[in-house]
Amino acid sequence: MLQVLAMLYLWLKAGHVIFVVFWMAGLFMLPRFFVYHQEVAASSPDNAVWVDREARLLRIILWPSLVLVWAFGLGLTLSGGWLNQGWLHAKLAAVLVLSGYHVWLADYARHLAVGRRKLSGRQLRLLNEVPGIAAAIIIVLVIVKPF
Ligand code: HEM
Repeated sequence: MLQVLAMLYLWLKAGHVIFVVFWMAGLFMLPRFFVYHQEVAASSPDNAVWVDREARLLRIILWPSLVLVWAFGLGLTLSGGWLNQGWLHAKLAAVLVLSGYHVWLADYARHLAVGRRKLSGRQLRLLNEVPGIAAAIIIVLVIVKPF
């Protein structure tokens, strides 16, 4: 029985890391899409192509990965009994920031789809640092478990 539970935990962890990879890939790609999108005129046919690419990336990769990373992560938390660990609390805070960034990106895509371009390419490139920094913090917390 113990062996089955240990195996289940490893399968949950594999599922978690697979969807972390998909989620992070999408979080890196979408702001890049925005930069290229904003280089074409809002009235051009290319604009509609970018709107479609962004919507697909959100629908097919980003939203399902967000849900599955959370589902597998919470499954690991409960089955591993990690709930009272300091590193997990800090990790959850960083993951909440990353989830907030995801929601903000989805909102920005909605604005772009109706021709509103709120930020410059340079500002978007700078914002693109957020997922990298958050991922580095999260991975150190979960692997080193410093507290
Ligand atoms: C969404 C909420 C999340 C929760 C509740 C959560 C929770 C967990 C838990 C409890 C583990 C197992 C730790 C262990 O067995 O030592 C784990 C593993 C892991 N998590 Fe998350 N996680 C979440 C999101 C993320 C994100 C966003 C990333 C990366 C950016 C990430 C990266 C990892 C990695 C790489 C592991 C494997 C660590 C190892 O095997 O040593 N997690 N997560």
